Amino acid sequence: MDKILLWSLLLAISGSQASSPLAQDKTEFAVDLYQAVCSSHKKNVLFSPLGTKVLLGMIQLGARGKAQEQIRRALKTEEDSMGEEFSMLKLFFSAISEKKQQFTFNLANAIYLQEGFTVKEQYLHGNQHFFQSTIKLVDFQDAKACADTISTWVESRTDGKIKDMFSEQEFGPLTRLVLVNAIYFKGDWKQKFRKEDTELMNFTKRDGATVNIPMMKAFLRTRYGYFSEASMGYQILELPFKGDDFSLNIILPAEGINIEDIEKQITAHQIWKWFSEMREEEVDIRLPRFKIEHKLDFKGALHSLNITEIFSGGCDLSGITDSSELYVSKIIQKVFFEINEDGGEAAASTGMDIPMIMSLSRNQFIANRPFLFIMKNNPTESILFMGRLMNPDSEKMRGRDLDSL
Ligand SMILES: *[C@@H]1O[C@H](CO)[C@@H](O)[C@H](O)[C@H]1NC(C)=O
Ligand SMILES: *[C@@H]1O[C@H](CO)[C@@H](O)[C@H](O)[C@H]1NC(C)=O
Repeated sequence: MDKILLWSLLLAISGSQASSPLAQDKTEFAVDLYQAVCSSHKKNVLFSPLGTKVLLGMIQLGARGKAQEQIRRALKTEEDSMGEEFSMLKLFFSAISEKKQQFTFNLANAIYLQEGFTVKEQYLHGNQHFFQSTIKLVDFQDAKACADTISTWVESRTDGKIKDMFSEQEFGPLTRLVLVNAIYFKGDWKQKFRKEDTELMNFTKRDGATVNIPMMKAFLRTRYGYFSEASMGYQILELPFKGDDFSLNIILPAEGINIEDIEKQITAHQIWKWFSEMREEEVDIRLPRFKIEHKLDFKGALHSLNITEIFSGGCDLSGITDSSELYVSKIIQKVFFEINEDGGEAAASTGMDIPMIMSLSRNQFIANRPFLFIMKNNPTESILFMGRLMNPDSEKMRGRDLDSL
């Protein structure tokens, strides 16, 4: 399909201009989930609201009654849409795969079901149609073989970036249905950082301890804002990826402000207000290189969003199979995301086209303490990733990083 036509179609479906009420609705789920996930994690967090929507969509397609109702309420979707609420996701994924030359985006979705259940034909089709996801039968009693099979599949679907998704301890005789979602994104910045400008700097963690890490450095013209609410100040910086389809938005609390206090205040409305109020400015930037690989079992977080029924025996998954013995055992997502100067190429900088004028009025954005980040897809106003960096030093890449300085 023609690219422009496709995007306008996407926009028509998603409800139009920036900060539309629909974009807010879509973001509400992301914010609810972020707060639920962070309340039980003290460290680096990374997850994909979009990917989680896919997981829940896959199960909603086969759920009936209360099980279905709870998911709809959490996702804020309409009652009688018969899967149409997922058309948006379907278009998103096909648009993404058409633009693959601009970035790497790997998404693997699957449903693993205990052998012996008979899956309805319509359900298989629906999953393929909306989510390009496959349904596979395995024997969870043979936990080791299962873990190997699923991990190998995920690894092959994510260019080898997501390894060891499961261990055998995670399955057992009571495991029935496991939903799997693995995502890897890598893009080049629209304006790259110069490798030779990267230098070691202290990053002060939440507990006051410091780690000495490589900080990227650039002076760019980009969208920026300073906000202050309830006597808490924070800066937001937007760094677009090449092609402008995706951008990373970094929310940095002012010095002395706890990241948790900002997290508690975030709402969908506020996120879109930020995005509409940020302005292009010249900003002096220091940003850690970082890599986060995070695996989440959403069971706990979904419980706090009142999605409980699908995890209990006797729930109605009759759209999947006629057996009443079926329930969801695990909903697992693993995401891998890495930020560096350019994305792997040798440094051919485009980032320094603004003369380095030392003036007192320029903005400084020094990310040397914990921050939140939101990666969004601009044409669809969807949040691809959301997370926070508490400790850039915790992902076992220190050796490699220092070597390459
Ligand atoms: C970085 O942190 C270390 C350890 O806390 C401290 O000794 C050093 O002075 C700090 N460096 C700078 C430039 O602040
Ligand atoms: C979950 O349900 C409780 C009780 O019905 C309600 O108070 C709460 O707001 C709900 N939470 C969400 C995120 O919908």
